[in-house]
Amino acid sequence: ELEEAEDAMRKEFDNFKKFKAGEKIFPDVRRSEYNTIAFDLNAAYQPGVPLEPHPLRFVPKWDHKFVPMPCCEQNVHLFKVRSTDAVSNNDTDGPNEPDNNLVETKIVRSWMWHRISKALSGQILCSQDIFSATKQYTRVTSEFNALNYCIDQIMTDGERTHFFSKVIPYMTRLVLGLPEIVTCPLPILRKNVNHNISLSQRQVACLLANAFFSTFPKRFQFEAELPSINFKDLFADNHGEDERRLIMKAQKIRCLIHYFTRVAADSPQGVITYTRKNLRHCNMPDWKKIDKGLTKFVPLIRGTIEDDGAGLLKVDFANKFIGGGVLGRGAVQEEILFVIYPELMLTRLFTEKLNYSESVIITGCERFCKYSGYSLNFKFDGDYQDTTQYDSKGRRCTQIAAIDALYISRPLFQFHPKHITREVNKAFVGFSSPNNSSIAVATGKWGCGAFNGDPQLKAVIQLLAASHAGRDIAFFTFGDIDCYKDVTSIYDCIKDLKIKDVWNLLDQYHSLCCSTSKRTRTLKEFCKQYTDGQSETKEASSTLKASTSN
Ligand code: AR6
Repeated sequence: ELEEAEDAMRKEFDNFKKFKAGEKIFPDVRRSEYNTIAFDLNAAYQPGVPLEPHPLRFVPKWDHKFVPMPCCEQNVHLFKVRSTDAVSNNDTDGPNEPDNNLVETKIVRSWMWHRISKALSGQILCSQDIFSATKQYTRVTSEFNALNYCIDQIMTDGERTHFFSKVIPYMTRLVLGLPEIVTCPLPILRKNVNHNISLSQRQVACLLANAFFSTFPKRFQFEAELPSINFKDLFADNHGEDERRLIMKAQKIRCLIHYFTRVAADSPQGVITYTRKNLRHCNMPDWKKIDKGLTKFVPLIRGTIEDDGAGLLKVDFANKFIGGGVLGRGAVQEEILFVIYPELMLTRLFTEKLNYSESVIITGCERFCKYSGYSLNFKFDGDYQDTTQYDSKGRRCTQIAAIDALYISRPLFQFHPKHITREVNKAFVGFSSPNNSSIAVATGKWGCGAFNGDPQLKAVIQLLAASHAGRDIAFFTFGDIDCYKDVTSIYDCIKDLKIKDVWNLLDQYHSLCCSTSKRTRTLKEFCKQYTDGQSETKEASSTLKASTSN
């Protein structure tokens, strides 16, 4: 019975509006104060023709507004040199402590790019060599156990030989080619800005190869407000991890190595746009006044956002530090998305922690990996050939909206109108589009796993945001049958209401059912009672009308 009902839903879902090949997708790729375009735009995009970097020569920028590139001449390390000119081998992030035993010392500068070039020009023939090379220019606190596990235990002999003979030399060339490949300074996407960065997929690969070898220096005083980017944290076993966690990290690395293997074999030629989107508080909708009806809401038990949401706006259940624990111990929805679409990882290079009214939209990234399992059982499951078509600007018609839900530490709090406002605004920043795109949204239990939210509430919140943005919703319950039944029942009750009515319903639910220390009813029960009450009132009034007219 359930399957039949879901099949009917799927038919409705098949009719949802999706991205079409060759279409214009917002944001556009053109130079303006809101757009950084790292390649030459003069030649119109032609599939298969490599994009040339823009400007012609590398423009060094070394201030808090831009990503500090490892090849900038200001990227220096200070070293203690004895009077005999022997350079200390200590590798620290700052000048060394003076050594009282040395009679005469002086501090000299060493250009990091020179050290990086030297380290990566040597032979790298095993995972230990990656560790030794990285150690020559950056601080590493523990062995690369997760990387070792991946290379020595997960990869086959053939894959390993190919990796060291073909892929690693390609990656080191990409790393050292940085000043020729990414010539344009990349702005840090700071809080409260609206800005797009468009890069060619080759430029993204070059920057990610730098991340793989952990060449990026600190991003000035904002380092603490930015997610980490250098892969050394993923490679290392920082917390004396238990074996299952170590293997899960190794599986994430396996996905990333697969990405570089594919890129080395055939460099992708498309474009990716990274957008930081901010709606000022004053532009936020007044939800209790919106007189619009609800859009379609289709719950599905089977399928996932990434597989079945092809052509829709896919939601990333994000952390305010985008990518969350992808370089650490996480392997839930966001982290998995980031390793199967590795180009998403680059967002971490320049995206400052997300604020209340902000989201990140990534347009054009390509999927490279299949996976199986989840969390500690996550596993790389082979190559994925992405057949998504391109838009008119050379981007895959794939758009991902990263929105960070609230972490719910006390279950009742989430029903407070203040918190509902925060969540519905956040979803709206992710779903709304300045060109009023009505492409449907592929989402699910946003904020309801690691972040402990209530799936019934989150479904209604996302429905409100999508309805105001003019988009239908496909809600993947990820195999959760109870959730499917709950959200189906809620939607049946509220589908004919206006946004403002649903808002008031949530408000009433909070005051009537959530004021004590325990909820008296679930949201589904409350909605059911509400509609039963409505139909009783209707019945009563029609009986009254009938009896008075008689
Ligand atoms: N498609 C559909 N539903 C999914 C999928 C998928 N591919 N994967 C998981 N789910 P969670 P959150 C369901 O916990 O609570 C990360 O570390 C599944 O039922 O990833 O918003 C971020 O970086 C799961 O329980 O999202 C944040 O730090 C539920 O969606 C934090 O987790 C929620 O997935 C965000 O946690």
